[in-house]
Amino acid sequence: MTPNKAATQQVSDNQTGYDLHVFVCTNRRENTTRPSCGNMNSEALRAQLKTWLSQRIKTDPTTAHLRVRVNSAGCLDYCEQGIAVAVYPMGEMHLQVNSPESVEDLKARIEAEVQRLIQLQSESK
Ligand code: FES
Repeated sequence: MTPNKAATQQVSDNQTGYDLHVFVCTNRRENTTRPSCGNMNSEALRAQLKTWLSQRIKTDPTTAHLRVRVNSAGCLDYCEQGIAVAVYPMGEMHLQVNSPESVEDLKARIEAEVQRLIQLQSESK
């Protein structure tokens, strides 16, 4: 059986992944004493980061080609230190992202990675 061309292309694209991928834990627990990021308003954080990163990338011609994504994630097992956010390709776990200052710190770290990606791409031309 030969896979159709569209399916083959999709697999190929998925293998290359994203240039920058952010996972915000939105797990919500009920009826337990263990905290959960979803109960710390992490869905609002995910939406905020998605809007910010999308605007940041699309409005700059030097970054408009970058493939970025902000996803919801299940429990990352840092519940007591939530809101937990994982960022790739850096492989960083950001914890206690639940204050304006910590959100700005996370955005600054993401922006630093965007600048690194721009630099890498300019060096490869
Ligand atoms: S609920 Fe978010 S890390 Fe466990």
